[in-house]
Amino acid sequence: MSKGQILVVDDEGAQREILRTILTSEGYRVETAGTAADAVTRSGRTQFDLVLTDLRMPGADGLSLVGQLTREDPPTLVILMTAYGSMDSAEQAVKQGAFDYLTKPLEREELLLTVERAFERIRLIQENRLLRQQLEGRFRVEGIVGSHYRIQEVFEKLHKVSSSNSTVLIIGESGTGKELIARAIHRHSPRRDRPFVAVSCAAIPETLIESELFGYEKGAFTGAISRRQGLFEAADKSTLLLDEIGELNVNMQAKVLRALQEREIRRVGGREDLKVDVRIVAATNKDLALEVGEGRFRDDLYYRLNVVSINLPPLRERSTDIPQLAEYFVARACAEAGRPPMAITTEAMRLLLNYHWPGNVRQLDTVLQRAVLLSDGRAIDYMDLPIEVRFSELAHREPVAGAGGGPEGAYRYPLPPQGINLEEVEKEFILQAMEMSGGIIAKAAKLLGLSYRTLQYRLEKFQIRREGSEGTGEPEGEEAG
Ligand SMILES: Nc1ncnc2c1ncn2[C@@H]1O[C@H](COP(=O)(O)OP(=O)(O)OP(=O)(O)O)[C@@H](O)[C@H]1O
Ligand SMILES: [Mg+2]
Repeated sequence: MSKGQILVVDDEGAQREILRTILTSEGYRVETAGTAADAVTRSGRTQFDLVLTDLRMPGADGLSLVGQLTREDPPTLVILMTAYGSMDSAEQAVKQGAFDYLTKPLEREELLLTVERAFERIRLIQENRLLRQQLEGRFRVEGIVGSHYRIQEVFEKLHKVSSSNSTVLIIGESGTGKELIARAIHRHSPRRDRPFVAVSCAAIPETLIESELFGYEKGAFTGAISRRQGLFEAADKSTLLLDEIGELNVNMQAKVLRALQEREIRRVGGREDLKVDVRIVAATNKDLALEVGEGRFRDDLYYRLNVVSINLPPLRERSTDIPQLAEYFVARACAEAGRPPMAITTEAMRLLLNYHWPGNVRQLDTVLQRAVLLSDGRAIDYMDLPIEVRFSELAHREPVAGAGGGPEGAYRYPLPPQGINLEEVEKEFILQAMEMSGGIIAKAAKLLGLSYRTLQYRLEKFQIRREGSEGTGEPEGEEAG
C-alpha cells in the first residue's frame, strides 16, 4: 500500500528523477511535472496529498501553485524547494500557506523528515474533517437541526422512505418534530409539487370528522347545502398527514382502514366510491401497540400504518443537540424580531442542557423566543430563562455525596460577579411563579416550595397583586374546581 500521493514539480529532469527514486523507495506514489501549468492539469486529474515544487521555474513559478492548491478542499499541501539565495521568497510562501520549504541542494534525511511531517499534518486534517462531518451529521434535512445519532437515523430513514409511496407512522412525544418530519417526507417525495394536507384527528369533534376526511354530498345532513370535498380528496396525488391518529374513534378507524386498503373513499351521503391516490403519513404521541393491546385501536389499521415507523426521541435523550438547536432558534428569533444576532452565555447554555424539556423541541423554541424578547443585552443570559428552567437543577439535584461536598458536585446557582440583592431575587422568583401558575397562589406556593400562608405573606410584603385573577386561587376554590 502506498503511503500517499506526491507530485514532484521541477523544470530540471535530473532533479525530478532523483526525487522520484528517493520517494518511491520510501513507499510513496510519485508523479512528476515539468511546469506549474502541467502540475495544475495533473492535480485536476489526481487528488495529490502533497506537492513538492521548485520555486523558480520558467513560466509560472512554484508560488503560484501554493495559491491554487492549498485552497482546495481537502487541501493539497505544498513544500517548496529553493536555492539558498531565495529563502526570503520561500518564507513568504510559507506565510501564504505553503507547508514548508527545503533548500537546495536537498539532503535526503531532511527531505524525508519534512515529507513525513507533511503526511502527519494530512492525517490530522483528515481526522478533523471526519470529526466535523460526524459532528455536523452526515445526513441533512433542510430546516431540521440534529446531529445526534438517533436523529441521524431518522434523517437516513426519511431519505430512504421519501421516494416511495409507503405509509409512514411517526411516533414521538409532543413537540419532538413529528409534523416537521412529515412535511419533510412530502418535500422529498415525487409528490412535492402538490400541496401537503394535514389534519389533526384530535382537533375535530367526532361527529364532524367523517365529513372532514371524506367530504359530503348535498343534503347528506341538515346544513349540507352543497357538496363538499373532504381532505382525502384534497390530498389526491399528494400527502395527507393524519396527526394524532391515536385519537380516532373505532368507527372512524374502520373507515380510514378501508380508504387505505381500497384506495377509495365515499363521501358522507354519497352513493359511489371515489378513487383517491393519497400517500398517508400518520403521527401519534401514544403508544399505539399498547392501544391495540387494550382494544382501543384496531390491530389491522395499526399494521397498515406501521409499514415504516419513525421514532422521534424526546429532546432529553438527545441533549447533545441542544446547543445547536438553541443557537438555531435564537438566530431565528433575532432575525424575526429584527435584532442583531445574540449569543447564549455559558451559564444559560448549562441550564438549557440540564433541563429535561417535557415539551421537547417546541418548548425549547418557545423559551428562547421569549428570552430574545426579554433580553436587553447582547447575549441570552440565565436570567432571561423561565423559572422552571432555572430551577430544574435545584429540583433534580442529587444530594451531595461524601464529606465536604466540593463545589463540583454541589448545586451552584450562578452568582453574578457584581453580587445580588437577595430580596429582589426572591421577589423576581415569586413574580415568575405567579405568572407560571396563572395567578393561583396555591400553585405558585407549590412551585416555590412554600406554604400557602407564607407565600400570601410575601405577596403582601412585596405588594404583588394577583392580576386578573381576583376571586380565584383560594385553596378551597381550587380543590372544588
Ligand atoms: N429538529 C428540529 N429542528 C428544528 N426545529 C424543530 C426540530 N424539531 C422540532 N422543531 C420545531 O419544534 C416545533 C414543534 O415541532 P412539531 O410541530 O413538528 O412537533 P410535533 O411532534 O408535531 O408536536 P405535537 O405532538 O405537539 O403536535 C416546531 O416549531 C418545529 O419547527
Ligand atoms: Mg404535531
